[in-house]
Amino acid sequence: MRTLRAAESVRRLCWTWRAHGDPIGFVPTMGALHSGHRALLRRARKETRRVAASIFVNPLQFGPGEDYDRYPRPFASDVRILKEEGVELLYLPRAERLYPEEFQTRVSVTGIGKVLEGAARPGHFDGVATVVAKLLATVVPDRLYLGQKDAQQATLLRRMVADLDLGVRVVVCPTVREPDGLAVSSRNRYLTPPERDWAPALYRTLSEAADRIRSGETVSPEKAAAWMRRRLARGPGRLEYAAAVDPRDFGPPKRGRPVVLAVAYRLPSARLIDNVVVKTGGRDR
Ligand code: PAJ
Repeated sequence: MRTLRAAESVRRLCWTWRAHGDPIGFVPTMGALHSGHRALLRRARKETRRVAASIFVNPLQFGPGEDYDRYPRPFASDVRILKEEGVELLYLPRAERLYPEEFQTRVSVTGIGKVLEGAARPGHFDGVATVVAKLLATVVPDRLYLGQKDAQQATLLRRMVADLDLGVRVVVCPTVREPDGLAVSSRNRYLTPPERDWAPALYRTLSEAADRIRSGETVSPEKAAAWMRRRLARGPGRLEYAAAVDPRDFGPPKRGRPVVLAVAYRLPSARLIDNVVVKTGGRDR
């Protein structure tokens, strides 16, 4: 595996691959790699000849008071995982090179970028879109691999790729979960034992709400979301949102279309997000 820090070196290597006709799969990450990241890397390995990954804890997507400084950076074990998964290129940019003092450009996705996570974390999605646009401009992959765990991020980046004619195919991989249902996340390591015990309640609530929509017991996705809000109001932390939205644009659910049920919940030690997709007779994307 080649580890490269300079954008020009990454660009040169990827250009050689493309000149050979080798399709490139790209998996952007912030490191602290786990089984969710592994699933993306494996899918990329299966579908593309060359796999590139990046590790970059992107300061632009963290708000003031968020966990940028304490975000886990277990570099040696990340490198081991990338090698195990057959990654050929690790792009490891330096913050001061990606964002020099004179840096002034932001990629901003309106609409979908401003609701739920976008409303709860102002500036977050501009930071995500900006860094991913920069990484894509350097690697120029054929396929971009993202996780359903961050459903709104995936939809937003798909929108950005289409809007900016970036010409990369976006592949969204299913959420990897712990045996008790908790979505695997780099931030789960912040949880205290009692918080960890409670955390699977999020997925249980999402799954039950999804069942209610499927069985017709609750009439509408909005009512299922209201049911989730009542149910999660009793937890040990604070519910930031529990909503039902259309997966295509994160706007209001539409009859005959799939629905995303999404939650964000703030425990004292960590903020958790999760979601499930409910197919309601319409075709999923
Ligand atoms: P990070 O949280 O490291 O996640 C990298 C990728 O792994 C994202 O596409 C995310 O959705 C996916 N992922 C995380 N947990 C997952 C799980 N349990 N199952 C499936 N996929 C999972 O998301 C980011 O980094 C950043 O915002 C980034 C896109 C790299 C831009 O900085």
